[in-house]
Amino acid sequence: MTSEPAGQARDDYVLVLNGPNLNLLGTREPGVYGITTLAEIVGDLETVASSADPPLRIEHVQSNHEGVLVDAIQTLGPSAVGIVINPGALTHYSIALRDALAAVGIPTIEVHLSNIHAREEFRHHSVVAPVVLGQIAGLGPDGYRLALQHLMARLGLTREAQR
Ligand code: DQA
Repeated sequence: MTSEPAGQARDDYVLVLNGPNLNLLGTREPGVYGITTLAEIVGDLETVASSADPPLRIEHVQSNHEGVLVDAIQTLGPSAVGIVINPGALTHYSIALRDALAAVGIPTIEVHLSNIHAREEFRHHSVVAPVVLGQIAGLGPDGYRLALQHLMARLGLTREAQR
């Protein structure tokens, strides 16, 4: 028996979404975004997810296109146990992304490698922030790992949580 409504059964994965230009991590403005590649970040998340009890998977989608990310939220979001999203520049203006996250209503953490609040004025505002659990900014790749660990703890999927 499941307590989820029909068609809403949760799967065993966290959906990780990365927006425009994050495919260039490693070479993109290393003074701002560091030298860690997106593949390394996702690899680290897979290691952390596999340490959950029971283990989780990572479903990762990076796209430079807003609609692809909206589609991913609509199709993969509803059965995910949580979402970790770095929307890139879409953070600052994509109402479509915000509405998609609000529509699926899955616990979501917004991550930024850089401290958007200490950068140009236009980066200070996130249209996504009001519909997510919380935001981590300025901690580099650690932000993704901390977001995932928080979701795991919240779900009671860490060994510590089960003690
Ligand atoms: C970013 C910050 C955004 O302002 C920027 O457009 C990005 C990356 C970050 O991770 O720091 O593409 O989301």
